[in-house]
Amino acid sequence: MITKNQIGLDPQKTKILAERLNELLANYQVFYMNTRGYHWNIKGDNFFELHLKFEELYNDSLVKIDEIAERVLTLGHTPLHTFSDYIGHAKIDQDRNVTLGKEAIKNILKAYAKLLPLEREILSISEGSADEGTNALMSDYIREQEKSIWMYSSYLG
Ligand SMILES: [Fe+2]
Repeated sequence: MITKNQIGLDPQKTKILAERLNELLANYQVFYMNTRGYHWNIKGDNFFELHLKFEELYNDSLVKIDEIAERVLTLGHTPLHTFSDYIGHAKIDQDRNVTLGKEAIKNILKAYAKLLPLEREILSISEGSADEGTNALMSDYIREQEKSIWMYSSYLG
């Protein structure tokens, strides 16, 4: 008989999922700070439009950061919660002094190119673990980001 954890899932698979979710959390934390930087430092004709857009984006990241961290806890593990751990685990680069709207948007697209494969990897593990909670969360993120990629790419023309 396989021992299950407190929410009825395989503890070994859940551990792998929690590690990947922590990696995703670290990436979102860097993405969050990058988008705050764009919101603050952006200059030029589209300032008002992009300043608001980036605020919407970092607020969305904050919601996801909390959802991912609490999913890690729900799976019975501990979410990363220090800046040094985030930097150590994130694949998204930290941005500094981005003032051009198009550069910020290109960097957002580059960040999605790192977030999406990781979310798809988590989705494939959660599918194989009957972890519907993580599965549903990843499905939502993937669908939203695919749409965002279309929109930000359209902005670039
Ligand atoms: Fe602000």
